[in-house]
Amino acid sequence: MSKEIVLSGIRSTGNLHLGNYFGALRNFVRMQDNYDCNFFIADLHALTTNPDPKQLHASVKQIVAEYLAAGMDPEKVNLFIQSDIPEIPELYLLLNMHVGIGELMRTTSFKDKARKMLGIGAPANGDDEEAFEKQIIGAETNKRVNAGLLTYPTLMAVDILIQKAKWVPVGKDQEQHLELTRRFARRFNSFYGVDFFVEPQNFNFGAAAIKVPGLDGSGKMGKSEGNCIYLTDDPKTLTKKVMRAMTDEGPKEPNSPVSEPIQNLFTLLELTSTPDVVKHFKDVYADCSIRYGDLKKQLAEDILKITTPIRERVNEYLANDDYLRKVVATGAERARVRASQTLKEAREIMGIRKF
Ligand code: TYM
Repeated sequence: MSKEIVLSGIRSTGNLHLGNYFGALRNFVRMQDNYDCNFFIADLHALTTNPDPKQLHASVKQIVAEYLAAGMDPEKVNLFIQSDIPEIPELYLLLNMHVGIGELMRTTSFKDKARKMLGIGAPANGDDEEAFEKQIIGAETNKRVNAGLLTYPTLMAVDILIQKAKWVPVGKDQEQHLELTRRFARRFNSFYGVDFFVEPQNFNFGAAAIKVPGLDGSGKMGKSEGNCIYLTDDPKTLTKKVMRAMTDEGPKEPNSPVSEPIQNLFTLLELTSTPDVVKHFKDVYADCSIRYGDLKKQLAEDILKITTPIRERVNEYLANDDYLRKVVATGAERARVRASQTLKEAREIMGIRKF
């Protein structure tokens, strides 16, 4: 029986952090034996935030090395770079004809990033949408919100749909993009009366999608939040980051409710430690004997157990350009087989045919 198709990617915007690892990369490696896996570096998506060209290039290489160092086997996985698949931008153009600018403007990630680009803060209430739209449309060209950012979800949908992927292992923050992908697929299929694109689903081995928190009190771990623990952080840096994590004054009464910063520490502990360690710290929290310093020390040690082998292997891969080049060239060649077939069929469905 043929294996189910999986596709996912990570933007090349810097080194990978624990959010990328637990939300995505760990599952990439765990899925590689049993699925038809396609994992890539989303360098075209990275362009939406106008990176420095040198940094973009270095970041693509870094992520290829980190994928491999985390255990991805290029014999089992099509590991490729998005921009090596010219069929993707072409299908992106075609699919955009069926995507509404209104639905793109309402996407949470677009609104967040556009606000950052324009230097406007989070909305005080829901009814400032109109003002927000006016600000985008009226923005001076030196502070523009680029059209690539708006159409980010179309490009992501195409990455998935062009491979006819059924499963897309991503973190919780990407679920809205997946929902849009399904909507675009349905719309295309029903407009042309075809059963062509496959509607993809998130995948986390049956568990809910993951959101790795930051250690600065609230929200998620993310590059733009500046609160990342990187897979390549050396032990001293990493331990320092964990030891500086925000806490509270500690529980005063047995079985006190857990505040957000402490819950974030527990969430990370659950991802990195064994169940008995987690239970121990929950017990000492419940009976008020917890010492947050001990919890953080344990957490730093357990994170390092996961990241150290990866960090140690990354440099070996980075030093081997020939090998990296071969891996991504082979990956692209394989990924283009299905991509070119899907594109060819999509063009025909849409009426773009040869005489
Ligand atoms: P990016 O680079 O923002 O994130 C890459 C992956 O890391 C996950 N992630 C997290 N998961 C849990 N907790 C966090 N704090 C956290 N931070 C990041 C993301 O959910 C994601 O899985 N748009 C995608 C890249 C992409 C893509 C695709 C993914 C482009 N095309 C097609 C899947 C399929 C993204 O945001 O990457």
